[in-house]
Amino acid sequence: MPLRLRFPWIHGQSLPDGVRAGRRAISPEERVDYVRRMFSAIAPRYDLTNTVISAGLHLPWKRRTVAALGLRMGERALDLCCGTGDLARMMAEAVGPNGSVVGVDFAAPMIAEAAQQTAPSPRDGAPRSSRRAFLIGDAMSLPFAPASFDAVAVAFGLRNVADPAAALREIHRVLRSGGRLAILEFARVPNPVFRALYDLYSFTLLAGLGRLVSGHPDAYWYLPVSVRHWLDQAAMLRLLGETGFVNATCRNLAQGVVAIYRAEAGARGA
Ligand SMILES: C[S@@+](CC[C@H](N)C(=O)[O-])C[C@H]1O[C@@H](n2cnc3c(N)ncnc32)[C@H](O)[C@@H]1O
Repeated sequence: MPLRLRFPWIHGQSLPDGVRAGRRAISPEERVDYVRRMFSAIAPRYDLTNTVISAGLHLPWKRRTVAALGLRMGERALDLCCGTGDLARMMAEAVGPNGSVVGVDFAAPMIAEAAQQTAPSPRDGAPRSSRRAFLIGDAMSLPFAPASFDAVAVAFGLRNVADPAAALREIHRVLRSGGRLAILEFARVPNPVFRALYDLYSFTLLAGLGRLVSGHPDAYWYLPVSVRHWLDQAAMLRLLGETGFVNATCRNLAQGVVAIYRAEAGARGA
C-alpha cells in the first residue's frame, strides 16, 4: 500500500478549491486587495522574517536564480514583484555600470524599502554598479514598451499575482525575443515523507515564527496555504509554454520545496 501521510487540516475539507487568504475564504477581488495590504504591512520586517523562516536559505536561492539568467555586462534587467529588491541588487552587480535594473512591485512600502536599501552611500564615490530604479506597478500591466528588457527575474512573486498567466504574457511582451526569464517559486515536494514533515513545519513552526517576527496576524498562514494551492513543476512548465516561452527548464532545490524555472521568450505570436 502506498505511503500516504496527510494532515486533514491541510489536505482535507478545510481547503476547498478556490482562493483562501489567511484563515478565512475570500473572493478573488478581495484577494488582490488583501495581498497588497498584507505585503505593505509586513514590508519593514520582511527581510528579517524571510531569513528566520528559511534559515537564511532564501539568499543563496536568489543568487542561483540570478545566476540562471546568465546576465552580461550592459544588459537591461527587470526584478518583478521585487519586494525589498534582493534580486535587483544581485542583478545590478552582474550587469555592471553600463547596465540597468528596474524593480517593480505593487506594494508601495516594499518599493520604499527597496529604494532605501539600494541608495548609494556617500562613501561609494563613482558608480561601480548599474543604473537602478524601483517603481510601483502591477505585474499584469507593466509600464514598459515591448522588448524593453534582456532578462526578467521573479522570486516568490508569481504565486501572489491574481492572474499568473496574464503576468507571464506581460513578461513576454517586455522581454526582447530570446530574452531570458528566471522564476524562483515554491514547488511540489515529490517525496511523501519529506512533504509530510515540510507540511508539519509550514503550518506550525513557520506560521508561528512568521507571526512572531512579522507581527502580522495571518501573513505566514497565507504563505503555506497559497503554496499548497500553487502549480506543481509540471503545470508551471506547461504554463510557461502556453504563454509564449520556449526551452523551459526546472531545477528543484531543497527537495523541491522551491524550484528555479528558466525559459526564453519565444518569437512574437509564438
Ligand atoms: C513574497 S514577496 C517576494 C519579494 C521578493 N521578490 C523576494 O523574493 O524577497 C511577493 C511580492 O510580490 C508583490 N506582488 C504581488 N502581486 C503583485 C502584482 N500583481 N504586481 C506587482 N507586485 C505584486 C508583493 O507586493 C510582494 O512584495
